[in-house]
Amino acid sequence: MRLLAVIKVAVWLGVSMLVTPAAHAQTTPQRVALCASCHGADGNATLNGMPSLAAQPALFLETQLVLIREGIREIPSMAGMLNGFTDAELTAIAAYYADKPLAAVPKDLDPVLFARGGELAQGMRCGICHLPTYLGRDQIPRLAGQREDFLLHSLLQFRNGEASGRDSNMTAAVYGVSDDDLKAMSYFLSRVPAQ
Ligand code: HEC
Ligand code: HEC
Repeated sequence: MRLLAVIKVAVWLGVSMLVTPAAHAQTTPQRVALCASCHGADGNATLNGMPSLAAQPALFLETQLVLIREGIREIPSMAGMLNGFTDAELTAIAAYYADKPLAAVPKDLDPVLFARGGELAQGMRCGICHLPTYLGRDQIPRLAGQREDFLLHSLLQFRNGEASGRDSNMTAAVYGVSDDDLKAMSYFLSRVPAQ
């Protein structure tokens, strides 16, 4: 009897040791499955107002993920979603999306609006921080090829002082800029190829 009990315990331990680590050892692709509905399976968002995460500088994504997890950058639709993620897991998620290629920019082109947006961005020296290619670096995001609706949403938030938990450099950069000028820059930047 006693031997049988010992064997049962040994079997139970063996099984639970097999099962438990597997349940916890989620891979990054498994973890980001819940992000796909909004940010796209490959980090290219197709929904209105959603940022594409593909090809962003890893450090930018990592910084934002920590700020979002801590509730400093408030995103109601992501509330609580990153609770329990460790710093190392967020670093891995950032690297995962940084490596994904960005989808092609929209094919339609209004050359007048594109040129006007480009001149405005140059005149306001956005490239000093975001680089003249608008590909971003370190904790500064890539703007080239980002969704136009998300760019405009962000620029309006910065200009209106509603970008909670975000860098005050950006509030200063677009201080007093008109809606029309923000629209033209969003149109231009969304059509600058990121390759
Ligand atoms: C229900 C939709 C939704 C889901 C699911 C979601 N997000 Fe988001 N996420 C958003 C929205 C909306 C924004 C932009 C909010 C804003 O700036 O106003 C955002 C912004 C971000 C940003 C900042 C991007 C930038 O360019 O500023 C990162 C990084 C991010 N999400 C990562 C993730 C990750 C990783 C997951 C999965 C663990 C995830 N999100 C799941 C809706 C979602
Ligand atoms: C002094 C440096 C600096 C200048 C100049 C600057 N930016 Fe930024 N920008 C940043 C930083 C840093 C962030 C990240 C802010 C954060 O999330 O806290 C950012 C974020 C953004 C975002 C949000 C992108 C995203 O994925 O969340 C947009 C859009 C943007 N900048 C557009 C512009 C435009 C257009 C100009 C020129 C009118 C400009 N920036 C000038 C530093 C700068």
